[in-house]
Amino acid sequence: MNWQNHVVIVTGAGSGIGAGIADLFAELGAQVVVADVNQARGEAVAADLQHRHGRGLAVTTDVSKDAQCAALIARAVETYGHLDTLVNNAGVNFVKPTLEMSEADWDRVIDVDLKGTFLCSRHALAVMVPRKTGGIINIASVHTVATLPEAAPYAAAKGGVHMMTCSMAIEFAPHGIRVNAVSPGLTDTQIWQDIQAAAESREAAQQHWHDNIPLGRVQSTREVANVVKFLASDESSYITGANLMTDGGMTIQLINRARYASAALEGRVS
Ligand SMILES: NC(=O)c1ccc[n+]([C@@H]2O[C@H](COP(=O)([O-])OP(=O)(O)OC[C@H]3O[C@@H](n4cnc5c(N)ncnc54)[C@H](O)[C@@H]3O)[C@@H](O)[C@H]2O)c1
Repeated sequence: MNWQNHVVIVTGAGSGIGAGIADLFAELGAQVVVADVNQARGEAVAADLQHRHGRGLAVTTDVSKDAQCAALIARAVETYGHLDTLVNNAGVNFVKPTLEMSEADWDRVIDVDLKGTFLCSRHALAVMVPRKTGGIINIASVHTVATLPEAAPYAAAKGGVHMMTCSMAIEFAPHGIRVNAVSPGLTDTQIWQDIQAAAESREAAQQHWHDNIPLGRVQSTREVANVVKFLASDESSYITGANLMTDGGMTIQLINRARYASAALEGRVS
């Protein structure tokens, strides 16, 4: 596939997975818009892409604000003439007991992860429909199929993103527009650094996740970006409404391998 004239917006591209996705598309030769609420981070990523790949435009955007989403899409179209792919990646998460969760806590996660995905999508769809081509890729999470305690807003937001993906996929299929989700498991970003720092030791954290992830390791941002690239490419031309898990098999196992081994020894499983 020739990516030279492909225009991609990646929200939350100032760090982590979004920066990894922006990097891959710039390397492929696409025009990449780096949209992040953090101006300094977004501009740093765009400057780095310009330096290494000769492309990358920073547009500071808070995806929870409708006018800013509209301005983001308009800027991409003004600059490059059209929009091929929107990657809704911006997201926030925190873990907190439900009884301590405030209304503001709930609103913060829902506004960015769920409402932000909706707002950016509808402005993008408005410019994609007349061209009868385009694609949206929502970065959801393993929380679309399995979740944890103290993660109610995040689980609700990501579960919502999953079903919003399905609804928009059906609605815009007649217009030649595909809408899909990618659901990463644990990825080597700041959250993985934080998990290791909070653990007894880095080795203990790595062993824990080795036991809990069938493939036995945390993935790189490039591994998520490769799935996004597939969904943005013609290679996936018959896929819409999918939620592709890139989680090393984390969500398909009933119990982790260490627990399974000890239970099997005690004759409690067959
Ligand atoms: N890292 C993981 O292990 C993991 C796993 C599953 C899903 N995810 C999802 O992947 C996405 C990226 O996660 P990450 O770990 O790279 O996060 P991150 O915190 O490293 O990066 C998120 C970026 O989004 C930006 N952002 C936050 N609020 C925003 C807003 N209102 N408007 C625009 N930008 C905003 C931040 O400034 C930041 O640069 C999120 O949607 C997250 O839920 C991450």
